[in-house]
Amino acid sequence: MKMWSGRFRQPLDPEFERWQRSFPFDRRLLKYELEASRAYARALRKVEVLSAEELASILFGLDQIAEKAAASTSFLEDEEAEDVHDFVEKQLTALIGDVALKLHSGRSRNEQIATDLRLYARESIDHLRSFLTDLAEVLLARAEQAGDAAMPAYTHLQRAEPVLVAQWLLAYVEMFLRDAERLGDCRRRVNLCPLGSGAVAGSTLALDRDAMTADLGFDAPTANSIDATSDRDFAGEYVNSLSLLAVHLSRWAEEMILFATQEFGFVHLPEAFSTGSSAMPQKKNPDLLELTRGKAGRIVGDATALTVSTKGLPLAYNKDLQETQEPLFDASETALALVPLATEWMKAVAFDYTRMQKAAESGFMNAFAAATYLTGKGVPFRLAHEQVGKAVQLCLEKNCELQDLSIEELRQFSPAFDRDVYLRLTVESVLAIHDVPGGTAPERVKQAITEAKQRISAMRGVVHAHA
Ligand code: ARG
Repeated sequence: MKMWSGRFRQPLDPEFERWQRSFPFDRRLLKYELEASRAYARALRKVEVLSAEELASILFGLDQIAEKAAASTSFLEDEEAEDVHDFVEKQLTALIGDVALKLHSGRSRNEQIATDLRLYARESIDHLRSFLTDLAEVLLARAEQAGDAAMPAYTHLQRAEPVLVAQWLLAYVEMFLRDAERLGDCRRRVNLCPLGSGAVAGSTLALDRDAMTADLGFDAPTANSIDATSDRDFAGEYVNSLSLLAVHLSRWAEEMILFATQEFGFVHLPEAFSTGSSAMPQKKNPDLLELTRGKAGRIVGDATALTVSTKGLPLAYNKDLQETQEPLFDASETALALVPLATEWMKAVAFDYTRMQKAAESGFMNAFAAATYLTGKGVPFRLAHEQVGKAVQLCLEKNCELQDLSIEELRQFSPAFDRDVYLRLTVESVLAIHDVPGGTAPERVKQAITEAKQRISAMRGVVHAHA
């Protein structure tokens, strides 16, 4: 029998019936459905819809369902259950008899699904924040290991200025810490309890919503029953945060792929995370990175799918909302798998510091420093820029670097050049003049590492408090 069959005279069209079921995907919500049902049953006891014995029996039955699900995956292979709510009701009835049917008193699947999805999102957020903290920690450790090694920084993918390898890795620490923070912000809006909202207008029973809220570890009850049963912006915000995370991951992946090419040769791909070619014996391919880049597309797609499926829906619940589930699950599960793999990859990768350092020493990346030197001698920057540009042109003709020009050659472009300019053209001194907070001067980078460490351990504290 259907949960709603009373007013129907005809059975459902079998094709339609199969097509509209959500159990094939919402069965992953079972754990949350059981948790929410326990809290709801306790609230029903308080308003005396359930006797103490009935409550005990329902709680026992719900625990049994959890045990059965843990014991065998085939338990969840139900070809009939319409959704996870229907499944639990049927299983509970089979276990404890008709008292199971009292559990739905004053309750609607509309508030149930909103609750389950919030619990699912909350737990995923907590895991992800913990994984992101691990990733940031590994990136930081690699930054510390890199010491004073330098590499080129690129703009427009052209060599721009030398930076410390540590400075480059810390850029990713920032991105991933921001992603973790964003998820933390989102969590505040996720962690609200819809139970008691009923189908749309609020429960017809005088339920203790605060008790259910506390029971489920929510921060507060939702404020409006119409909104609580119909909005999915908490899921949209979460998945959109994931799409920003995915964009960061894909930029990271792309950069590592590029740096692992023979042309760059900065990165040696870890064998444990690469594959070979069935055709070309010499190949070692960056599969983990490529799949990361590819899966980012899928997460961004999920964010769009989820958002657009709620566009233009009149209040309150509409079945369209069922379509928000799969993008939520897909984005969430894709990200949860990606982040720990990226972390392991970062642990395993080897950097070719010698090659990076060599690259940092060529390509006129000291030109900015040379112009800055001239401004120190009173030349307006615009002119200094022009003069150094001309010197670069001469180097290109002679196939050499700025430091290879004689002082006479340099003076042709600007009389302000003195012999001390050569001291300013080494990688070390170019690095050292970027001496501002957030800059790549080695002392600043050391400071940044210390600060990042503190932020990571603060994040770790928050994440643990939630776990
Ligand atoms: N499977 C449904 C969903 O995911 C549960 C809510 C059904 N509510 C209803 N009024 N038909 O949205």
